[in-house]
Amino acid sequence: MASAAAVAPVPEGARVTICEVGPRDGFQIEAAFIPTDKKIEIVNALFAAGLRHMQVTSFVSPRAVPQLADAEAVLAGIDRPEGAVITALIPNLRGAERAAGAGVDAVHTVVSASQTHNLKNVNRTIDASLRDFEAVCEMLIRAGVKIEGGIATAFGCPFEGVVPPEQVAKIAKRYQELGATSVGLGDTTGMATPSTVCAAVQAIRAEAPGLGIGLHFHNTRGVGLACVMTGLAEGVTHYDASVGGLGGCPFAAGATGNICTEDLVYLLNESGYDTGVDLEKMIEAAKLTQGVIGRELPGQVIKSGPRLRRYDPGLTATAAG
Ligand code: COA
Ligand code: ZN
Repeated sequence: MASAAAVAPVPEGARVTICEVGPRDGFQIEAAFIPTDKKIEIVNALFAAGLRHMQVTSFVSPRAVPQLADAEAVLAGIDRPEGAVITALIPNLRGAERAAGAGVDAVHTVVSASQTHNLKNVNRTIDASLRDFEAVCEMLIRAGVKIEGGIATAFGCPFEGVVPPEQVAKIAKRYQELGATSVGLGDTTGMATPSTVCAAVQAIRAEAPGLGIGLHFHNTRGVGLACVMTGLAEGVTHYDASVGGLGGCPFAAGATGNICTEDLVYLLNESGYDTGVDLEKMIEAAKLTQGVIGRELPGQVIKSGPRLRRYDPGLTATAAG
């Protein structure tokens, strides 16, 4: 007989916040332009499923990411249900000004923990990005926009390999000094493992006590949800995920999709966490997204349905000998 449970019981009413990043991380890697009205329809379907935190676009150079050149139009067209926290990714002051002008609640700044990826992604060094963020954060604080400090390649870099947790913690500390209320650790090319998740979370807590931590996993090596379980065990309650498992950074070799929102909702709801998300409606939103994207998405639950989905025995072959 198995003895003690390997997973700690979930306290009554424990909440996990899921930030939907499909409209940003998911769409940015799609080559074919998704019409603005389709983007808006997907965002609204995701809100209708119960999601309340959403990274709806990026305010980046339209030459770097043409797919998200319609950021202002998307912001202007989407629903804003009560309690919605609308965020957007920004790389610089110009992006921050555009985002604040479009009425976001929070921005997700981006710097990479590895120098090579930062140079590829935003065409400047880590130090230059962090210096730029001084004016960015001052402006955002004045405008009343919350700052989530994004740290890409936080668990490894496709160009440099290992990224030491101390480097991630150092950037997190700098973000805290600049006024960020939380940091989001981006696993840009799915290099995180349960042990590296523990190491990074613990390093940040030691270096920057009081700073919120969100985790952003890609499922490139199939261990994204295992990393979420590790994060939960560490007490982290904020996770990014992407509808259908879309996603990937165009400026990181080998990037593939985020952990899939409906798969994450399934795991968390079935584990006793309150996510506020209705799985059936989430699957509908994923099917809508799949139709718009025009190819099968990597998510699992979109294919299999909820756990207690029932099949008609009359429609299944019987193995008669
Ligand atoms: N929004 C719109 N346009 C922007 C912009 C922004 N946030 N930031 C810069 N630009 C424009 C400038 O106005 C300038 O335009 P011009 O040539 O017509 O005058 C041009 O882009 C170049 O500006 P510069 O500051 O020299 O930028 P750069 O060429 O060094 O590129 C970034 C730097 C950060 C703008 C670019 O690398 C970028 O957008 N990266 C984002 C990558 C990304 O989204 N990755 C995926 C998410 S992790
Ligand atoms: Zn990502």
